[in-house]
Amino acid sequence: MAGRSFQHLLSFLMLLLLCAKPGMGNVTGCIERERQALLHFKHGLVDDFGLLFSWGDDNRDCCQWRGVQRSNQSGHIIMLHLPAPPNEEYDEYGIYQSLRGDISPSLLELEHLTHLDLSCNDFEGRHIPPFLGSLSRMQYLNLSQANLAQTVPTQLGNHSNLLSLDLSDNYLNFGNLEWLSRLSSFKTP
Ligand SMILES: *[C@@H]1O[C@H](CO)[C@@H](O)[C@H](O)[C@H]1NC(C)=O
Ligand SMILES: *[C@@H]1O[C@H](CO)[C@@H](O)[C@H](O)[C@H]1NC(C)=O
Ligand SMILES: *[C@@H]1O[C@H](CO)[C@@H](O)[C@H](O)[C@H]1NC(C)=O
Ligand SMILES: *[C@@H]1O[C@H](CO)[C@@H](O)[C@H](O)[C@H]1NC(C)=O
Repeated sequence: MAGRSFQHLLSFLMLLLLCAKPGMGNVTGCIERERQALLHFKHGLVDDFGLLFSWGDDNRDCCQWRGVQRSNQSGHIIMLHLPAPPNEEYDEYGIYQSLRGDISPSLLELEHLTHLDLSCNDFEGRHIPPFLGSLSRMQYLNLSQANLAQTVPTQLGNHSNLLSLDLSDNYLNFGNLEWLSRLSSFKTP
């Protein structure tokens, strides 16, 4: 009798341990709020080449989605790596299988994002969304060759952790570049 309740206590403690330390094992699945944010981001885009085919409601683990990587420790999404792949049919012309459309502010939900690469996509002359400046953990931002235009929002200078910023080969006005001096790595247009 006593032995059995001891066993129960033991398994209860094991359960507690398992629940209390989700960071110790491998995190499985996505944080739902972040998964929804990615789905909103997808819905803002026009995906002519089906690149985001794996980003589906039926595939709940968004780490298996193309270009998405999460932290094994916290489970938060830390990387969105979606440079457009070259279109092999037109290899020699430098034509890409680009995503088009809007960069949705739902990305703001990905507070732990440190790496965002949307290079070589086609944002059709849109401006760089100023809200990207609010992703405060960002270390690597690559928006090169993405058909972005208009003035670069000074909010990008709020990135105190930014190590690499590539805005090359767009149609951007840089305005006052004073904020760039804070960045340790910057590829000029
Ligand atoms: C986590 O996953 C990796 C690779 O799938 C595996 O090698 C490792 O043993 C797992 N760790 C734990 C604590 O489950
Ligand atoms: C997380 O773990 C997987 C499997 O072990 C590994 O492939 C991946 O690179 C790890 N991710 C990070 C950000 O360390
Ligand atoms: C950027 O920083 C300035 C002041 O340094 C602040 O007024 C502004 O609200 C910040 N913008 C964002 C998007 O965080
Ligand atoms: C940004 O992306 C382009 C195209 O994908 C790549 O050639 C370039 O090296 C990247 N820039 C940085 C600083 O990593």
